[in-house]
Amino acid sequence: MTATDLRRPVPFGGYHAKQLPDDDAELTRTGPGTPAGEYFRRFWHPVMLSSEVRDLPVPVRILGEDLVLFRDKGGRLGLLDRHCSHRGASLEFGVVTECGLACCYHGWVYDIDGTVLETPGEPAGSKLKERVFHGAYPTHEEGGLIFAYMGPPAEKPDFPVFDSFVVPGNERVPYYLPFACNWLQVHENGMDPIHSVFLHTRMSGVQFAEVFGALPFLEFQETRIGVMSTAARRWGDHVWVRNIDAVPPNFCQFGATWEDGKREKYFTPPAIGRWIVPVDDTHCLTVGWRHVNDLVDPSGRTRNEDMGMGKVDFAGQQPEGSYQDRQRNPGDWDAQVSQRPVAVHAVENLGTTDVGIQLLRRQLRRAIRAVGEGERVAPLPAGPDGVIPSFSHDTVLVKPLANDRDEMTQLAEIGRAVAAIVLESADVPRAERAGHIERAIQAGI
Ligand code: FES
Ligand SMILES: [Fe+2]
Repeated sequence: MTATDLRRPVPFGGYHAKQLPDDDAELTRTGPGTPAGEYFRRFWHPVMLSSEVRDLPVPVRILGEDLVLFRDKGGRLGLLDRHCSHRGASLEFGVVTECGLACCYHGWVYDIDGTVLETPGEPAGSKLKERVFHGAYPTHEEGGLIFAYMGPPAEKPDFPVFDSFVVPGNERVPYYLPFACNWLQVHENGMDPIHSVFLHTRMSGVQFAEVFGALPFLEFQETRIGVMSTAARRWGDHVWVRNIDAVPPNFCQFGATWEDGKREKYFTPPAIGRWIVPVDDTHCLTVGWRHVNDLVDPSGRTRNEDMGMGKVDFAGQQPEGSYQDRQRNPGDWDAQVSQRPVAVHAVENLGTTDVGIQLLRRQLRRAIRAVGEGERVAPLPAGPDGVIPSFSHDTVLVKPLANDRDEMTQLAEIGRAVAAIVLESADVPRAERAGHIERAIQAGI
């Protein structure tokens, strides 16, 4: 019997809609040994803010694994299996040493790579420590975030540096938000730009800017780094084109949070780069950077102190206020977490606005299966500067639309033309890219 049989469309037919099919385990389950879990373990993922790792070890749970993160007195970061290899005490109660972490129970000392340095209760000359290797993962620290690589050591990729990480004059402000649901539904929100019209504007009141409430022309396409959405909106005599990148498995970049569609611009960098990191199958983290610079926030509205552990400076990313407040003014957290602990794809009814989500799932499924068949994940193509060109941006043009032609048709023409120019500019050197795009838009649109 199919999901459709079980959910027959008859009036007052709730009785026929009781059976819930399984979720899409191939994409949603990321624990050790699962297909998506193996795929995830081929990438660097942010697991904590640097500011949280001070004199005490920090327990973290990532991809269904219980780990402990610490910084030894020599300043090196370590990420170890949480349970001691001797008799399993949690290393969150360990003591940070000059060179590693000592278990509280019997004093075994671990180096950051899992080497057992000392077993102090054993007799001198004991070979016990040479027989044991404790689970450990490599880390990378950048921009106030600590990243981990949890895959096969032989397949460890270089840390991917996108062009948005090296924008001159930009400050990267890290933030970390827990979500009580599966990772995929939070990640998919990045390829669901139409929700800004409804959740963020028409349903909950204006959470960002009024212009988000204008129905856009929407299109989605695969790019050399993932999937890109294009949304083109009319706002008076202006047309605002926003492209958003979703990079598999779990990275997304978004344009200006407070974009009001009123100032002309051609190619502004992303305002947010964030990863959705599975904690386990029903919990995940949003961890990333708010990019703070004059291009994405000319009015200086972004406040660094509003970002960090459990907070970011825009509405709705955590359960805010009372339950009734959230019912009256729900945000992203409420909408995404309430899709069930793990959203069930088999009972969705996807429409034309969901093409990006379908592309994203297809890309993921393809990549998960390829890794399952033994393929290595290829690095993303770098541009001439050695960093990865990305496409997320805002363009606002003074472009009065003709009254005698269909508005969506005109928005489609402009949105597609801007998207094409941005995609074609990938291999232009970074310092010249914004100028190149500006000239191409002025000449061709
Ligand atoms: S349990 Fe950790 S040293 Fe014994
Ligand atoms: Fe949102």
